Amino acid sequence: MKKREIIYVIILVCIVIGSLFTVIQQPIRVQVEDKVERMVDGQELRKTEANRNEENKRADQSKKLVALTFDDGPSEYTKRILRTLKQYDSVATFFVVGNRVELFEDVLKEEVEIGCEIGNHTYEHKVLTELNAEQIWLQIYRTNEAVKKVTGEYPTLMRPPCGYDNRSTNCIIAMPLILWSVDTKDWQTQNCYCSVQTVLENVKDGDIILMHDMYEASAEAVETIVPSLIAEGYQLVTVSELAEYRGMMLQEGEEYSSFGVTIQNHLE
Ligand code: NI
Repeated sequence: MKKREIIYVIILVCIVIGSLFTVIQQPIRVQVEDKVERMVDGQELRKTEANRNEENKRADQSKKLVALTFDDGPSEYTKRILRTLKQYDSVATFFVVGNRVELFEDVLKEEVEIGCEIGNHTYEHKVLTELNAEQIWLQIYRTNEAVKKVTGEYPTLMRPPCGYDNRSTNCIIAMPLILWSVDTKDWQTQNCYCSVQTVLENVKDGDIILMHDMYEASAEAVETIVPSLIAEGYQLVTVSELAEYRGMMLQEGEEYSSFGVTIQNHLE
């Protein structure tokens, strides 16, 4: 063979080998990509499934939703409330007073463990409209830090003591402010029957119910309120869940007192 022919043959062989490599590598690459894609799909699928399971457990959209909220605690009565919630696979939101947090660390941990939400109710239960900017900031900051220290999470919601707030306090707070639509006045009556009646006579879909985990009568009332609400077709969710299921994006410094269907329709 001539030198030139040998070179042609070598080039030809190289082309053939090169083509073979490309052909062989192609399916491998596809397989790898496919696997990666499937893995990503799998993860997304699992995530969606987990979310769906979570939602099924927590919030069946065909049912009415309601958020029980407890202020001023934690206290020695909170655990009794948690027992009831656990018994009925339900959750609530606890707006805690910061300086009580370290006295009841185990209560806070249990609240989080069973899926309850913890909100900020100032460090010393101070009426915000009577404080200056720095004092307001400290009340919020110290409570958020106290909760984070125990639960590992910062609260995302705030409830002003006695519901007193205004535009200037809300600017400083920089968290969504949660009021209520059903007031049991349990702190005033300290009567189990009154609290139960108030809730059952007034409750409607999307309501936020105000109670206090500071009184035995309140803890006792919860033992009737929770199963009664469930029997009436309600699902008990946290305030954040309620907002989320109603398609509300909570804004810092804005006030919310319920997440009823009216709000949803209004947004649509
Ligand atoms: Ni309060």
